[in-house]
Amino acid sequence: MSEHSALVASMSSHARELQKLSGPGVDSWKNRRHLLDTKDLSTDELQTLVRAATICKEMMHSGEGPQPLLTSRTIANLFYENSTRTRSSFELAAKRLGATVINLDIASSSVAKGETIVDTGRTLAAMAVDAFVQRHNCSGSAMQIARELGDRVHIINAGDGWNGHPTQALLDYFTMLEVRGSVKGAKIAIVGDITHSRVARSNMWLLTKMGADVHIAGPPTLVPPELSSLGVTVHNKLEPAIEGASFIIVLRLQLERQKQGLIPSIGEYRRVYRMDHARLKLAAEGAKVMHPGPMNRDLEITHALADDAEKSLVLTQVGNGVAVRMAVLYLLLAR
Ligand code: CP
Repeated sequence: MSEHSALVASMSSHARELQKLSGPGVDSWKNRRHLLDTKDLSTDELQTLVRAATICKEMMHSGEGPQPLLTSRTIANLFYENSTRTRSSFELAAKRLGATVINLDIASSSVAKGETIVDTGRTLAAMAVDAFVQRHNCSGSAMQIARELGDRVHIINAGDGWNGHPTQALLDYFTMLEVRGSVKGAKIAIVGDITHSRVARSNMWLLTKMGADVHIAGPPTLVPPELSSLGVTVHNKLEPAIEGASFIIVLRLQLERQKQGLIPSIGEYRRVYRMDHARLKLAAEGAKVMHPGPMNRDLEITHALADDAEKSLVLTQVGNGVAVRMAVLYLLLAR
């Protein structure tokens, strides 16, 4: 038996199913080098991603060990900004696919001596790292690295400033499809601190592309009115945004940015914008509440609603994050 045949024979049925995926979306992913944001993903690519993530979720829950799908690949997690969910789930995803993972500890790296993100990137690329999963507080930083090093490494944007967080939007979309089958025609509300939210932007691009009726709401200082150019309806009151909605994505109030006096007071924000069971009654029958995390409990969402196993999808989102990131890594890196 050849080495290749032995490798294939050692794979689970799910891993082989992943390898058998075909169609125009698979071809587009094969030709894609980076995942920088949702706005440049085609509907074929999105459908393929969902098919791949469904198989990856089955792999996760089947009890099978890591599969030798990306054994020749090395992935570097470069988190210049804090993360729990995204960083852990990318690491778990890469390991489940058999890849080698390094987590650069930015605080103890040469970044602390003033090394630029481009020099750090060049250094790791010289060590034959295949892909960077990068989070940075500067909007456009993933695009910058892709411009500088994109011929040598695959770049996955794990959140750049206020701009985008594509894998969060992809896992949100995947989670909605599990509940509803399709988002076409569904009213989806995104509420809270829209201005500072990369999650909101990536979701607006993706969900409008897939035919959802997207409404955003928050205080005037935290909702840029020009976002209506993305095809969403802008509100400053919570109630009209959530009325009849099938999904309500509640965003974290980015307290670290409120020193600029963008809201009158935390108490006022809580009174006017906090999602709770009473407000959820305005939404559609069976509506679900989502939150990308981390949550400010009892500020933008009540404890009771966040922990309501029937109405809240918060932990389902977290679990789906691993499956969706496995799919992204597989589609970008398996050749
Ligand atoms: N949703 C999200 O990006 O969470 P982390 O900051 O914990 O990665």
